Amino acid sequence: MAEVAQSTDPIDHTQLGDKWDPIASKLYGPEVRDAVVAAAGLDDLPSGSLVVEIGAGTGFLTDALVKHRKNFQVTAVEPNAGARASLQEKLGHWPNLTILPGTFEDNSVASGSAACVLGTMTLHHAVDLDLAMEETARMLSPGGRAAFADIKDHEYGNFVTGHYDPRPGTNMDDLKRSLEAAGLLLVDGPRLIGVDCTEKAKVETDTDISVPVFLVVGKKALQAA
Ligand SMILES: C[S@@+](CC[C@H](N)C(=O)[O-])C[C@H]1O[C@@H](n2cnc3c(N)ncnc32)[C@H](O)[C@@H]1O
Repeated sequence: MAEVAQSTDPIDHTQLGDKWDPIASKLYGPEVRDAVVAAAGLDDLPSGSLVVEIGAGTGFLTDALVKHRKNFQVTAVEPNAGARASLQEKLGHWPNLTILPGTFEDNSVASGSAACVLGTMTLHHAVDLDLAMEETARMLSPGGRAAFADIKDHEYGNFVTGHYDPRPGTNMDDLKRSLEAAGLLLVDGPRLIGVDCTEKAKVETDTDISVPVFLVVGKKALQAA
């Protein structure tokens, strides 16, 4: 039985909880998850390694992680209580899954414990990108990898308010700086993956929204420089 650590919500950015699934499936598809899983090099990790997902939501990426043939120990960090409950309902029967409250910037994952830290469409929820990358580096074991897909920065105001986003996407140059400032080595990207996050025009605007998705992979050095 998966463990759900008990804690009150530190942050409730999305306010969407278990309503996220039907929305997400219209915005982006499994190709985003597949890109992150492939770029993270999960097949190369030893069986049973700890893989930490940040901003797991209702399990879009978690589903692939718990079922991976390498039988990973998966820790899914998610601040929203509704999303955590939905995740527990869907995947809580996987004994290799631990669901924790927390965020990019503040979580209880042990330092140096993770062979991989990854996430989909979550970076733009991290208000402090520098702190998010510092925490990512803290969680990683030497040689560990971080892999994230997110939406590029954009100017669609309705998209930001409609999805309770704290900021309009992630600037790829800012992310590169934050990642390197945290001591991580860039392995891949940030680069666009040829997939857009799209939303049909709402009543108040006649413009369809289309925001490119990018991927980034970083690595923690085997030895401190
Ligand atoms: C756009 S949803 C993506 C969820 C899931 N990864 C997916 O691809 O379906 C963003 C998720 O990030 C979570 N979140 C909000 N603030 C966060 C933060 N500071 N750090 C990590 N995750 C956060 C939200 O609760 C939400 O579940």
